[in-house]
Amino acid sequence: MIIAVLVTACEGELSGGLRRTAPNAPPPMDATTPTTQQPGTIQLPPIPLTDARSAITGDEAVTFARRVAPMLVGRVPSEAELTTLSTGGAGLRTVVEAWVKEPGFAEAARDWISVKLKASGTAGGINGDLPGNLAAFLVRNGRPHAELLTADRCYDRAGAPTACDTGAPFTAGVLTTRAFLKNTSSRFNLKRARTVVKTFACSDYPMDNTLQPPMPRESLIPLFQVDRATDTSAGTFGNGFACYTCHSQFSAHAQVFVKFDDQGRYQAGATGLQDMAAEQGRSTNGLFTSHFTGAAAASEQSQIFGKPVQNLAESARVIASSQLYLECSVRSVAGYVLSLSETEANELPKPVVEEIVGEALKTAQQPTLASLVVEAFTHPSMVSARRAQVTP
Ligand code: HEC
Repeated sequence: MIIAVLVTACEGELSGGLRRTAPNAPPPMDATTPTTQQPGTIQLPPIPLTDARSAITGDEAVTFARRVAPMLVGRVPSEAELTTLSTGGAGLRTVVEAWVKEPGFAEAARDWISVKLKASGTAGGINGDLPGNLAAFLVRNGRPHAELLTADRCYDRAGAPTACDTGAPFTAGVLTTRAFLKNTSSRFNLKRARTVVKTFACSDYPMDNTLQPPMPRESLIPLFQVDRATDTSAGTFGNGFACYTCHSQFSAHAQVFVKFDDQGRYQAGATGLQDMAAEQGRSTNGLFTSHFTGAAAASEQSQIFGKPVQNLAESARVIASSQLYLECSVRSVAGYVLSLSETEANELPKPVVEEIVGEALKTAQQPTLASLVVEAFTHPSMVSARRAQVTP
């Protein structure tokens, strides 16, 4: 099997990013490869997968390892590692496998999730370190990466268990931290819902109906039932789409947050009903309005990716057990380490990302972040990714 892939890149973000220093002949084109390239396009050359590792030269391994080491382990490669790397793909694997056992890699995981969720330090009495602490704990203890969304406790900086801080009767890893919930609080709980699907499923609205079937129109409050196709009086949102197109899916994902107020505290008595004296999307007591009408407004029961769930914790479990979550984690870490924009990370070719996840799944049903990283940063397509020649 041959992979031919294109990643559109943003000029500024990629300087020093996916590029190799050694000059290289343009990769052969096949029928599916566009013949014209735009400036700033990155091309991952076709790699015969059966011959994968031996395709990486010593020079490539050294260059790539120098590039990723500071972000992955917080240091540059040692002399001994450079010698190992100079043997090519096998050497690269030996080195990366050792890196993910270092404390520096646990710190990289902490930084990655802290950056992703914009949470660190303590502000307003809220411990912003909890998400990063969990990520570091999971790496240090070889726990499955899924536990980032399913862990039943929080951890302090040193890795000692501590209570999570929302007061909810359930836990969902980083999602049930006030740091995450406060940062993402917004009207109708939309930012919370969107941050979850973007960060952990690399998806956005509207998403494919096969991934999230729309909630029935009549179950939604009138604002979100509107279809521009039939009703041109709709407001200023939506860029020509019907509100219902996105919000029929949004509704389901926002609902599990209905009992979390704008400070990230759990309020069992939340109604999900609009506060008539407040801005649209706000309920009473610092809570946010549901998309749903009637009794459903107050209920945490909902669905994610078409699966019924009781609350945020169940929703998080569905996400964390999906293939999409593992693929998205690979995109996210690769994007973080290689300084890709979110768009670029999402455009890393699916066959490559699937193969990385597939390799990690061969050794464990529930892969660790370490195993995903080893497969990602030794994959020939990642190593040889480079900026394509800019042709005038
Ligand atoms: C293409 C998808 C899409 C369509 C169509 C759409 N929205 Fe939205 N809507 C979004 C997204 C994304 C957000 C922002 C979520 C966030 O805060 O990150 C949003 C936010 C909102 C908000 C909250 C704004 C705030 O200040 O937090 C309201 C209200 C809203 N939309 C109403 C509507 C209405 C009414 C329509 C139809 C006229 C509509 N939307 C159409 C995707 C969509």
